[in-house]
Amino acid sequence: MKTYRKFWKLGRPDLSTEFFDINRDGELVVKEGNYQYNLHDLTKKFGTSLEVAFPFIIERRLQELMDIFSRWIKAYRYRGKFIYHYPMKASQNKEFVLPIISEGGNLEVTSANELWLVKRLWEQGQFNTRIRVICNGPKTNYYLSLISELKDKGLQITPIIEDRTELAALNGFKGEVGIRLDPDVKIRAHWDKKIGRFGMSAQEILSLGRIRNLKLLHYHISKQIEYQEDIIAPLKKAMELYVKLHKTNPNLDMIDIGGGFPVPFEGKPLFGVEAVAKRVIRLVQKATDRAGIPHPDILCEWGSYLVAPAQVTIYRILNEKPIARAVAKKWYVIDGSFMNDLKDTWAIHQKWHVVPVNHLAAKKLTRTWLAGLSCDSDDKYTAGGNYILLPRLEDLANGDQQFVAILDTGAYQDALASHHCLLSSPIKLVIQNGVITVARKRETAEEVGKQFGW
Ligand SMILES: Cc1ncc(COP(=O)(O)O)c(C=O)c1O
Repeated sequence: MKTYRKFWKLGRPDLSTEFFDINRDGELVVKEGNYQYNLHDLTKKFGTSLEVAFPFIIERRLQELMDIFSRWIKAYRYRGKFIYHYPMKASQNKEFVLPIISEGGNLEVTSANELWLVKRLWEQGQFNTRIRVICNGPKTNYYLSLISELKDKGLQITPIIEDRTELAALNGFKGEVGIRLDPDVKIRAHWDKKIGRFGMSAQEILSLGRIRNLKLLHYHISKQIEYQEDIIAPLKKAMELYVKLHKTNPNLDMIDIGGGFPVPFEGKPLFGVEAVAKRVIRLVQKATDRAGIPHPDILCEWGSYLVAPAQVTIYRILNEKPIARAVAKKWYVIDGSFMNDLKDTWAIHQKWHVVPVNHLAAKKLTRTWLAGLSCDSDDKYTAGGNYILLPRLEDLANGDQQFVAILDTGAYQDALASHHCLLSSPIKLVIQNGVITVARKRETAEEVGKQFGW
């Protein structure tokens, strides 16, 4: 099985598949300590389309992230702390958010509704009072009123000022605030827009002079930043501003580098956290040492990095159709929808690490494109015009079926999901400590219809 494990790129920390393996029967399994979950068995028991979330993977990744930063903070004798803030937008699912909090993660929210969830947890007494919540995104009046309410109730909450309107709106706010810089650095990522709409230029921030209770300088340049230099370049710009801003705002003592750490979605290794952590710490240390000011706490909001590898989406291949004149030979039609369940496939041409759930040791494979169940010709996955190798259906024994897993689907896809052609969303399982919980049942036609007034 070793060769097949290698072929399908399983068991590799650099591809975040270290918990995935193949069993003796050529089936995909996930290993949590000495527990082993057979994904093929799950398809038989619960049917497809199927999402399976593994919170333990998030916990391990967060522990590792915090360990790496702590280790290098110590090694470099850096005098600030590393503080992790989970951006809830990456996945607001309770089964993801709660383990992150329990591992010592803090939160970043982007809307009043996300903050409302935080309020509910706070009111239920579920938080350690040390937890800090950062509030990004445009601040509606309702959002601002929730921020003030939670501050009054004792939560450490830091709204981030996006523009002059928010600066005015937060003028009477009693707590600490942050401000968002638009670093104006061009990087190689889909979300780095020619003309950004978030934050303020360094010049504009400096022109504000003293900002009441300013504690934190924040920026977020993009998601899925695939070159290390592109993580470092905006930080350089931010630290230039930080040292200047510190002169007029001496209480400033946090630098928040936002999100964007990449995930090897395509099964291609990128760079590791360790290399970036070292560079980030050293850069901030040198900039502040040169200016003779204290080392700030370093915050990050890496969302996809933490949660994407903790979920897989599984489909059954319903049938096949030949493709003439293309690099792929066959359409494999799945019993779900890329457009609905994995929206980024369609929206940003996201590529995925795709592996069979069974017959992983098949000797013969075929080049496929995957077609979704909606009527839409865009509901497909072609690996960017390439092909996806999967076992041949003609080799299956009578009555046997082929299942396919899309890895790393834990970030963003759930909140973006939709009901094109009124297809049902996948059933969702959460697996932890050997216990399987159904987090979302399969939607019936009646339930889907209800959402449209039927
Ligand atoms: C302000 C902010 N922080 C953090 C993130 C998380 O980014 P990622 O999931 O790529 O790490 C985002 C994503 O859009 C964001 O807008």
